[in-house]
Amino acid sequence: MKKRILTGIRPTGKLHLGHYVGALENWIRLQEEYDCFFLIADYQALGDHIDEMDNIKIAVRDVVLDWLSVGLDPVKSTFVVQSYVPEHAELAMLLSMLTPLGMLERNPTLKSERERISNTSLSVGFYTYPVSQVADILLPKADLVPVGEDQLPHIEMTREIARRFNNRYGNVFPEPDSLVGRVARLLGTDGQSKMSKSIGNVIYLSDDADAVNKKIMSMYTDPTRLRATDPGHIEGNPVFQYHDAFNTNTEEVNDLKERYTQGKVGDVEVKQKLIVAINNFLDPIREKRNKYENDISFVNECIEEGSAKGKVTADKTMSEVREKMGLNYVSSVN
Ligand code: TRP
Repeated sequence: MKKRILTGIRPTGKLHLGHYVGALENWIRLQEEYDCFFLIADYQALGDHIDEMDNIKIAVRDVVLDWLSVGLDPVKSTFVVQSYVPEHAELAMLLSMLTPLGMLERNPTLKSERERISNTSLSVGFYTYPVSQVADILLPKADLVPVGEDQLPHIEMTREIARRFNNRYGNVFPEPDSLVGRVARLLGTDGQSKMSKSIGNVIYLSDDADAVNKKIMSMYTDPTRLRATDPGHIEGNPVFQYHDAFNTNTEEVNDLKERYTQGKVGDVEVKQKLIVAINNFLDPIREKRNKYENDISFVNECIEEGSAKGKVTADKTMSEVREKMGLNYVSSVN
């Protein structure tokens, strides 16, 4: 039997290059070997986007389109919408009873996200989302969770809660491993530490050539370099990080790096070559997106059929969980 993967994404917008090298690329490769569940975590998105239902609706479609365009395959893998399988909520609620509050308070990813949100607008649902994510992973009994680096504390929490459950009620859940992508943290086009929609420093997988051109030409490079003859720095320079990540012509990249550090190439040439590389990378993705955008009924089918499959697996796990926890009062009373 194949080992299982569950991983997912919050539907809050289109996916970008950071998603690709941080996670998607692994997902595409691993769907050959694993039984994959790819989750569109709309409950989780509601935690801090409760008044943006219209955007979530658009984003659910965009995420599926992005997935299909990069080569996630709904025949090999299962695309699940979290709220279409309400057992996610049931398991999250039950697991919350096994989760000490301190474990949530210590979660470093949640901590830094909480700092962004003022206390008055922080919802209880957002505060407890890591527990809901634990339930997402445990519901299909995933063995492996390929994710971006920022998600690692949530996987660690999953292992701890699985252990707590198993110790108390008997062995039900595997303790899943995590796997981070080739580029753990793709810099933003502004040189900030992370490409992120909320900062606005992103190149989307669905950007057209014109958008890519503009974004790259205005990208942050080496601020210490005032003229093309000044020796430049590669480290921390997003233009070169992107060259490394997306330019398949390593000879060209090495030549550019060498000339850059020697002050023998201008930013414009480095950027123009990056534009070509990124457009080459995005062209087949764009082509597929175009095809699927014209076949929305297929896109809808992917999530309806996938969620129905997810529901079957979820039902099985929940029967087991209810039984192990002793939530079957009538049948057990004699
Ligand atoms: N938190 C993830 C994100 O921000 C989305 C997510 C929800 C997820 N449930 C998951 C990731 C389960 C991995 C496993 O994109």
